[in-house]
Formats: sequence, structure tokens, C-alpha cells
Amino acid sequence: MLARFSAALSVSAAVLTAGMPLGGAAAQETATARQPAGARPWMNAALPAERRVALLLPQMTRAEKRVLVQGFFATDFPPKRFTAPAEARNGSAGYVPGVPRLGIPPQWQADAGIGVASQGGAPRKRERTALPSNLAIAATWDQAVAERGGAMIGAEARASGFNVLLAGGVNLAREPRNGRNFEYGGEDPLLAGTMVGAQIAGVQSNHVISTIKHYAINDQETDRNAGNSIIDPAQARMSDLLAFQFAIERSDPGSVMCSYNRVNGPFACESPWLLNEVLRRDWKWAGYVMSDWGATHSTAPAIAAGLDQQSGYPFDKEPYFGANLDAALANGTVKDAQLDQMVGRILHAMFAKGLFDHPITAAPMALPDATLADHAGVTQAAAAASMVLLRNQDAILPLSPATKRIVVVGGHADKGVLAGGGSSLVYPKGRNAVPGIKPTFWPGPVMYYPSSPVEAIKRQAPAAQVTFVDGADPAAAAAAARGADVAIVFATRWAGEAFDVALELPDKQDALIASVAAANPRTVVVLESGAAVLTPWRNQVAGLVAAWFPGTAGGEAIADVLFGRTNPSGHLPVTFPDAVAQLPHPGEPLKGDVTYSEGAAVGYKWFEQKGHKPAFAFGHGLSYTSFAMNALRTTRAGQGVRADFTVRNTGKVAGKAVPQVYVAGQGWEAPKRLGGFAAVTLAPGEVRSTSVTIDPRLFATFDEARRRWTIAGGSYQIMLGHASDQIGQTTTVTLPKQELSAGWRPVPSTRSR
Ligand code: BGC
Repeated sequence: MLARFSAALSVSAAVLTAGMPLGGAAAQETATARQPAGARPWMNAALPAERRVALLLPQMTRAEKRVLVQGFFATDFPPKRFTAPAEARNGSAGYVPGVPRLGIPPQWQADAGIGVASQGGAPRKRERTALPSNLAIAATWDQAVAERGGAMIGAEARASGFNVLLAGGVNLAREPRNGRNFEYGGEDPLLAGTMVGAQIAGVQSNHVISTIKHYAINDQETDRNAGNSIIDPAQARMSDLLAFQFAIERSDPGSVMCSYNRVNGPFACESPWLLNEVLRRDWKWAGYVMSDWGATHSTAPAIAAGLDQQSGYPFDKEPYFGANLDAALANGTVKDAQLDQMVGRILHAMFAKGLFDHPITAAPMALPDATLADHAGVTQAAAAASMVLLRNQDAILPLSPATKRIVVVGGHADKGVLAGGGSSLVYPKGRNAVPGIKPTFWPGPVMYYPSSPVEAIKRQAPAAQVTFVDGADPAAAAAAARGADVAIVFATRWAGEAFDVALELPDKQDALIASVAAANPRTVVVLESGAAVLTPWRNQVAGLVAAWFPGTAGGEAIADVLFGRTNPSGHLPVTFPDAVAQLPHPGEPLKGDVTYSEGAAVGYKWFEQKGHKPAFAFGHGLSYTSFAMNALRTTRAGQGVRADFTVRNTGKVAGKAVPQVYVAGQGWEAPKRLGGFAAVTLAPGEVRSTSVTIDPRLFATFDEARRRWTIAGGSYQIMLGHASDQIGQTTTVTLPKQELSAGWRPVPSTRSR
């Protein structure tokens, strides 16, 4: 396994010192006495951000400006003889000094995909709340859950001393074996963009900046520092980039993090097409671009392409935006006007998101127990809402609390629940419940949060005899399971940053499940995985629950679903393939050039185009109740379409329905696309009128040469269903031929909620 960052560099101590203006040292060169507040008109919160930037920027010296564009790793890193700046929040991802003379606060950056993360190399870890993985949150199809989770992350981060959060992963699950799929929002641009956008909005509600990442087409981890994603630009605009576009419109993140990989040749962090053209010219986004940690490769070319901030030095080969930039400014290869533009964008985001007006005042290592207890409730509810009931033969679930004999097998379910590895890893209160599993260092440790499903099951079935067997010996597990009222097998597949994974469950777990199921027909599998896995035994088991990486209260949430305290309402945000041969690229992820010839036909779109039948389709998810969706009708809404329908709970318990509206047209990458969705909670018998607005871009194809969305016009099918393979009512709309600009966006009130 690779070290924290795979680009092996030899950085001399001299270079490091030269590139490192600690604590605003450069600012201090010119520092005069701290000015009185009245002399800082840019501190007037009533002024628009643009105006505040215009007032502040001319006051800054070149050296002060330069301070703002070079970030440092915030954790000591002995392999590169690097000591984190004293003012950094040690153990976190990054630090950009402020300029005390002018009241510009430092930027304290923390990884924040599922909570406030700590770097593996940190001697002391911040013990924080972990939400279920981002993919799990996408599986809720419920923006309120995502926004609440983001707000929780932002609150913990702020209370921990951070004002820039490296959150908002939205790369499409184009390669189901991507080790980081758990950090992202799934395979569909509308679902991913909407859900991740909601999370970012929640994060930023705390007066902090959130990133959106990793921009762009960083869809596998194999060879991620050098690999070249080759994709037709128009197809990219209709898939991966559209997910970013939707999320950016929904939440206006202060920063975009450009990714490690190359895209159609240049590195993403020096791609004029991605940065200056798509992001800025076409989408009119006004924030700043920061590089991923080790993803800056030059000074003048990167700046010319639109990169504003080098992150996490010393992970790049050179201090490109440090000493190298000083030299470039001195010799004129980078102009002061360019530096002004970079700094102006950073300051704009800092003003707009509240970093000046709501300064960070403390950075405690420990948070109050009351906060963590409160947040345990948030993560437990989110996890329970994210679980997808994939199979429930003869209503084996929910289990009765009066069940007598329960045998639990495998997955360390006696101890805890699995988390994903890499920079997003949140360290929990308490210890890793299963320490010592390799890799114990980057991208490990393999972490099990101390939230034991077995203990939670015992609490929900107090009269039951609950036996745990570790599953190492399938025959012994089968013997234990024989005759039990229910056998619950916990299957796990770890995944993480910097590596891709196989779709098969590791460690012969398929054989374990098959042998337990053969011994006891009342077998339920609970799957803890980052994303899709193969399920060759699925027709042999009675129940199957996808629990993802469920976060620090995951054990309790799993028991909530198994015993029906929570009626499952999750739906798959990714296709579960039947076989590797069905994938667009069945061979293992390649190094070097990776040609995404499937273009925008990602996930279910690919499967439907090819007529492949998956194990479980995109959007699939069962409930303990049943829903009927009816009375579908459509009207034109602006340039898009509004679909109105009713949803009725036809069963006996309350539940949350997820109506999905798909659209079909001619000449698209796939037979149909997700056009809208909603999450509707209903009491038994309750019926609700619901509507979703379908964005006109989802009826269009993109014309890269003319930079326009083109709707061919004619008739389009609108389909209402429970899943991509479970369509009920269908109707037709006729649309005129239309074109929309590349940066077209809906008026906020017309967005489907
Ligand atoms: C990851 C980013 C992360 C950064 C800082 C990189 O390895 O790709 O997602 O934000 O490290 O820890």
C-alpha cells in the first residue's frame, strides 16, 4: 500500500523553508501596527462581497497576496521532513496563513466528507461524529437528510476550529470498482448533484467554505496521480460535469477542488477547459479553485488555466505557488494582475461565506459530550434512512422483538461497523473496535466504529438468545445457524482512497453466506460496503439489506431497520451488477489512458442501452409498507416540464416513498434518464399530491462546439416509477425544439425538492 500520498518526492529542507511563510510571516515583513476597525472598511458586513474585495485587495502587498495562494499540510510529515506550521490545526488536512495586519483570517482546512476527519499520521485524533458515507446519504434520495447531515458536519468543524471544509465529493460512480465511490453521490448526475448540493448547503450554513470535489472525471483510484481520463467533452457535460453543475447551482460552494488526474491530456488542475471555460465562463461560478493535495504541477501554466490556490504543500514536487511564484512574479511570467485575480476570488469566497464576519474563536481537541450525543442521533437517523432493503422474501423482515433464537455471523458484528479508508476517515469517540486489520496505515487503518450491531440487536430483542459466530469457518457458522429463528450474516467489503476494489466480496464471504443460507432458509444478509458488490447468493437468502458504511451509530441504525423501528426507505444510487462482464470496462481499471467510450451512459444508462439485467437496478428499494403512485399528468414549466401525481401508502405502517420520474427521448446516450424524484413520508392510508420539476437540460444533449444544450423537440415519455426497472404510469409530453446556453440554470423556485 502506498504512503499517505503516492507521488514520491524528494523535497529538500531548504526548499520547504523557502516556500513556507508561516503564520503570515510574509505579512509580518510589512506589518505595521494593527489598524483600528474603523480603518478597515472591508469589515462592513453590509457591503456586497465584491465591494469588500475591491476595498481590501489594494491594501495588500504582493507578499501578503502571495500568502493566500499557498496552502500547507497541517500535519507533520516525516517522510518529507515537513513540520506543520505552528498555527495550523495539527492533525488536519491544511492551513493557509492569514494576514493579521489586515484582519484576514487564516484558512483552517479539514476533510469533511462524512464528518471532521483526522489525518492518519496525527499523533492525537479529533474524536468526532461520522455520518454514513456520502453514497449512503445519496441512497436516502432525501435532500433534507443530506442537508441536516451537512449542517452537522459544518457545526462540528466550526466548533473544532475549521473554516474551510473539504467536503462535497460528487464524482460519478462510472467505475463501480472505484475505491472512493463511497465518498460520492452515485451514478446519476441529477441524484448525485442534488444530494451532494444539499449536503454542501448544510455545511456552508455554518459560515464556513465547503469545496466540491474532485473536479473532474477522477472516477477511479488506479494510477490516479498520472492517469488520463479520455472522454468526449459533450458526453462529459451530460454526465460527470452535469453532476457538478447541479450541485454548484444548488449550493454555490466557495471552492472547487481540482483532481489529481489528467483529463483529455492536461492535468485537471491545469486544464483551461475545465477551469476557465466550463467552470467560470460557462457556469459563471465565482469561487476559487484549490488543488487536491499534490495535484499542482506548475506555476504559470496552472495559473493561466485558472488554478487559484496550491494546497497541502509539500505534497507537490515544488512550492509552485510559493517561492516559484515569487520568482515568476519577479520575472514577469506571472503578472500581478493574475495574482490579484486569484486572491480576489479567495477573498470573495471568504467574505461571501462568512469567514470574516463569523470568525473562528476556539479549536478544542474535544467536543462536549452533549454535542456528540445530539449528533449521534443525527447520524443514527441518517444511517437508518440510508439503508436499502433489497430483498424481503415472505416478509422475513422486520423481525419481531419477541424472536427467540438469533444467530449473527461474521463482519465483526459483535464489535462494530465498517468505515471507508483514506483522508475522509473520521475517528470516533472510543476506539477502533477491531484494531490491527491490515493496512493499519494509509490508506488504512481499517476502522470499525464501536457501534455493535449484536449489542443493538440484543437491546431490541431483550428476550432473545443472541449468539455470535465470527464466520471464519463456514461449516461452523452453518451449524450454529441451523434451527435458529433467523440467521443474520454481516458481509463486509472495505474500500478507500488510493486503491480500487474487486466487485466480489473478499475472504470467501460468498461461500459463507451460501452455506449459512443452505442451513437456514431464514437467512438475512446485512451488507457493509462502500458501493455495489456482486451478490451471487441473493436468491438463496430471504432478506438482504444494503447498510453501506453506516457511520458512528451504524449498529443501532441497522437494528432499527431489522426490527422495524425504522421502515426502510433507501433506494439504490448505483446499479448492483449481476456480473463484471456487464460493465463498460470489464477488465481491471487501467493505468495511463482510460478511454470512457461509454460517454454519458453511466450506470443504469449503460445497462439499459445494452439490455443487461442487473442484480438490483438503480432506484430499487423495498419497504415494510407499499405505495401506489397514480394520476400522473404533465404541464410545461418554464423550459422544463412539471410532473404532478399522487402517492398513497397502501400498507399498514408509516413509511417514506421515493417516487422517481424518468424521461425518454431519441438520440440520447441511453433509453432513459432520471428526471426528478421526491421523498414523501406517509401514514398508513395517507395520500399526497406531489410534483417534481424536470430540468430542461435532462431533455437535451450538449453541443460542445456551440456550447449549447439542444432539445431536439417532439414527443418525450415521462415515466413514474418505484425504481428504474419498476415503472408504473407513463405519459407523453411534446416539447418544441429549443436551445439553452451552457450556463443555463433554473430559477431556484422551480427546482424539484
Ligand atoms: C484527497 C482529498 C483530500 C485531501 C486532503 C487527498 O488525498 O484526494 O479528497 O481532501 O487529500 O486530505
